[in-house]
Amino acid sequence: MRQFLSERLPLTEFSEHLRKPLPKHINLLFSLGSLAMFLLLLQAATGAFLALYYSPSPEHAHNAVTYISEEVPFGAFVRGLHHWGASAMVIIVFLHLLRVVLYGSYKAPRELTWIFGVLLLLVVLGFGFTGYLLPWDEKAYWATVVGVEIASTAPVLGDFVAKVMRGGTEIGAVTLSRFYALHTIWLPWLAFGLVGVHLFFVRYYGSSGTPQNTPEDMKMGKPFYPHQVFEDVVGMFILFVVLACVALFVPVPLEDVADPTNADYDPRPEWYFLFLFQLLKYFQGPLEIIGTFVIPTVGMVLLLLLPFLDRSERAVLWKRPIALTVTSVSVAAIVGLTILGASSPKLETQEAPQPTAETENTLLTEAVEEAEEVFDFQLTEEEIEGTEGGAEVFDFQLTEEEIEGAREVKQESQ
Ligand code: HEM
Repeated sequence: MRQFLSERLPLTEFSEHLRKPLPKHINLLFSLGSLAMFLLLLQAATGAFLALYYSPSPEHAHNAVTYISEEVPFGAFVRGLHHWGASAMVIIVFLHLLRVVLYGSYKAPRELTWIFGVLLLLVVLGFGFTGYLLPWDEKAYWATVVGVEIASTAPVLGDFVAKVMRGGTEIGAVTLSRFYALHTIWLPWLAFGLVGVHLFFVRYYGSSGTPQNTPEDMKMGKPFYPHQVFEDVVGMFILFVVLACVALFVPVPLEDVADPTNADYDPRPEWYFLFLFQLLKYFQGPLEIIGTFVIPTVGMVLLLLLPFLDRSERAVLWKRPIALTVTSVSVAAIVGLTILGASSPKLETQEAPQPTAETENTLLTEAVEEAEEVFDFQLTEEEIEGTEGGAEVFDFQLTEEEIEGAREVKQESQ
């Protein structure tokens, strides 16, 4: 078999390539990239199982997630792995980025590796944002309301982007389908494509090692296979055991089903977006755009261009005073804002304002009139009053088929 394959494939060259020595002084921090890759695969695998039971519609999503957590064998465990795995992914990718900054590994000739890394960071955050809506509970719904509102403040394209995200003027069935498609099709394809290019560059340029390596040290370390691979696999195993324990013992929260009329709800994004959410509070009124658009966009552009902005000699971070200051201030700001965001009071949302008695009455009357017209019946004032403040009638939603069916019945009876 081996001979058959080596006559057809460059197996010897491939094996030699894998056994090439890495630079000296490679340490555990160099396994963070492999751990990020492992988590991406784990997310894909657990997500594939969750998708067997999930249904992306406002009527079924919340029930499906409850069913997974309470009825499906190992459902709560798989959901736990997926949920906590997403948080672990953000932490590991962030630490990997810091490792790259610490050793100045983004410097020439690895600028492209860095740029594809930043794109991967955006994709990882995109997974978090789109996945948050899927359980269709209160926090999912209201955090997405805030997220889309933030997108709508972008100049020129803001309204258009928000409309595309929602699939219309309000968050509903189309938004959920859209987020589901992004989360399970668009982003995974993008992520695996970007990882492919990222890893191609990593192998093409070789590991940068630590700045203390002399040119001779660069070819004097352990080989990638089997030594580094073994260390990476041990790291993956430990990470999996930790995640499995968390998934077993810490239940994943699921709030009540989303209620778009509950404007009293205190919306909060997932913890890794809390720093952005907190930032909004310092810029109110006409200055809002600074918090929602200017600072995040400028921050991202600076991060993307870092290898071109920092032209200093390659050295460990504490020997590069400007890079050290900028990194420390940025990390302190992100951590500080996250802590403040977690403990801060309610943020006012502009979308879906609390319905006043007047608007609620108008909507209620419209719903009742529609129902009366289709089914050809009349509700008495008492009946309308009696349905718990009209809530049941207010929630009344007819499907296309129901309306068609009712029309046919009505025509036949005439
Ligand atoms: C899903 C996300 C990511 C995956 C799966 C991933 C994977 C990897 C792997 C396996 C390596 C080689 C091992 C190592 O140096 O740790 C690596 C190296 C690298 N990554 Fe990432 N990465 C991701 C995100 C990022 C991000 C967010 C950045 C920075 C913005 C980044 C920048 C780099 C750079 C510059 C290298 C080369 C380091 C060197 O040669 O020393 N990566 N990545």
